[in-house]
Amino acid sequence: AYVVTENCIRCKYTDCVEVCPVDCFYAGENFLVINPDECIDCGVCEPECPAEAIVPDSDGNAAAWLEINTKYAALWPNMTRKIAPMPDADEWNNKLGKADMLSP
Ligand code: SF4
Ligand code: F3S
Repeated sequence: AYVVTENCIRCKYTDCVEVCPVDCFYAGENFLVINPDECIDCGVCEPECPAEAIVPDSDGNAAAWLEINTKYAALWPNMTRKIAPMPDADEWNNKLGKADMLSP
């Protein structure tokens, strides 16, 4: 499966949700997740993310994010349509240390 990682936090561009053929994105306040059990590994969302936050779960540091995606996909509402990014998305894009800012 693919998973959403740290750089989505506080950006939340939501381009990803428009292209997913199985609608498996779930939205929190400042972060989105993929439900790894629903993702069919098509890969089309990966290049759509302006923050390059989407990676295959086989990626080196993706294990922790796989856990986070699994956890919040069960709690947050499904999202299938693009909305406006977070107000300061472009300023937060590529900032380090955002992992602790994830709003549960
Ligand atoms: Fe959806 Fe495909 Fe991305 Fe998985 S890889 S989340 S199925 S668009
Ligand atoms: Fe997040 Fe990128 Fe989607 S910033 S909301 S994973 S387009």
